[in-house]
Amino acid sequence: MKLMLRSAAALGLVAIIGTSLLTGVHFVTAGRIVEQEKRVILQQLGQLVPDRYDNQLLDDRFTFTNERYFPNGQPVTAWRARQGAQPAALILKFNATRGYNGDITLLAGINASGSLRGVRVISHKETPGLGDAIELEKSDWILGFTGRSLKNPSSEKWAVRREGGEFDQFTGATITPKAVIDAVRMALEYFETNREFLFNAPADDGGNLKS
Ligand SMILES: Cc1cc2nc3c(=O)[nH]c(=O)nc-3n(C[C@H](O)[C@H](O)[C@H](O)COP(=O)(O)O)c2cc1C
Repeated sequence: MKLMLRSAAALGLVAIIGTSLLTGVHFVTAGRIVEQEKRVILQQLGQLVPDRYDNQLLDDRFTFTNERYFPNGQPVTAWRARQGAQPAALILKFNATRGYNGDITLLAGINASGSLRGVRVISHKETPGLGDAIELEKSDWILGFTGRSLKNPSSEKWAVRREGGEFDQFTGATITPKAVIDAVRMALEYFETNREFLFNAPADDGGNLKS
């Protein structure tokens, strides 16, 4: 009886230590992922706005949701670049929700005129060697968005080449590029119909990127 109790106590102790360790590792890893994402965002922001703007880009930001254009209840962040109080460009952070392995987080820099300054991938879970060619480190595919707008190409050409569009697909991995193309087009459509709101909404302080 004593032996059984001792074994049960030892097992219980091992379980408690194991669970605590796992919780600790999860906590540290989750924190690191958030930090890594922040670092990448800060690195990329400057590349997606014009050289000349005179406001505090990092502070001139706000977060909103719009289920029609940005599904799954995702929070979308907008950073505004202004020159002499005039809108110069805007950066949107949003998810392409139809990736092969879930959300692909994107940054899109959009000029006040509605043309794209560029698109970058912040994070994704696509398969290495198949879907990860969306990363600038892996291929220059993502640069194909630079200079594009809703009229360039026309809306039916916002698709991969195999489907009559103007964007390259990846061999054996069409789901990933399609998800990105569709999400970027939706972001441009949202920008076109909500330009005033996007530039005029008051800044909020959700998540200070500078810290
Ligand atoms: C293990 C595994 C991982 C895959 N990963 C991806 C991926 O990351 N992105 C993608 O578009 N397709 C991926 N695919 C392929 C898709 O299932 C699908 O076949 C493909 O996207 C369709 O493109 P295709 O018509 O050019 O073959 C993966 C398939 C398998 C079996």
